Amino acid sequence: MLAIIGGTGLTQIQGVKVLAERSPYTALGEASGPIIEAELEGRSVLFLARHGHPHKLPPHKINYRANLLALQAAGASEIIAVNAVGAIDPQLVEASLVMPDQIVDYTWGREATFYDGDYLPLDHIDFTFPYSYEVRLRLKAAAREAGLELHDGGTYAATQGPRLETAAEVRRLAQDGCTLVGMTGMPEAALARELQLPYACLALVVNPAAGLRDQEITLEEMQQALDKGLGRVLQLLRTYTTSKTSG
Ligand code: HPA
Repeated sequence: MLAIIGGTGLTQIQGVKVLAERSPYTALGEASGPIIEAELEGRSVLFLARHGHPHKLPPHKINYRANLLALQAAGASEIIAVNAVGAIDPQLVEASLVMPDQIVDYTWGREATFYDGDYLPLDHIDFTFPYSYEVRLRLKAAAREAGLELHDGGTYAATQGPRLETAAEVRRLAQDGCTLVGMTGMPEAALARELQLPYACLALVVNPAAGLRDQEITLEEMQQALDKGLGRVLQLLRTYTTSKTSG
């Protein structure tokens, strides 16, 4: 079953029929909220609000491990993670949809693995290609079918937050090859891989990253971009659920 992890601005999917609520409690603590099983375009999907509903958990306090375990227990077989991001690549204007294909992880102090020797014996997963090729391919096909522009590829810089970056930090991220910046992409993607759950990121650009123009970043502009882009995110997810052939 498809699982959607909703980021900032997507704490609920409006207008869907809720079929069941699954427990947020796991062997590694409590997920951000109950896992909602809902009907989307006639199919059952799972939904979890990453920051809780209403939005309460900052990026560094999210129990990413519990979120992934709770989704797995509820029957997730693939995950689309929706993330609000800042754009480092100037071609990505506000409200663009982007599907990154790489990650650089700058986060710290988060419980970032199931293979810590306590929960599971030590292991080292391959993470050369952090996102599922198949899910990305199907998202791309769904975007085409829905007539939505979706930028294919990019490198997601996962920063610690909750503050935004300095201009110099963004210059460094750009030098590192990053094209997007957000606070919640890791360790989520790596944990999904550890559980062998196919996972892809659907990023919505809500601001140009710090220092890329003269002004500072405001919450109002982020909110406006969310309002502008979330309808297309939902449209894409709806098309994905009906058009996918497997998973
Ligand atoms: N930086 C980090 N995280 C973000 C940003 C940003 O500019 N915009 C939305 N999430």
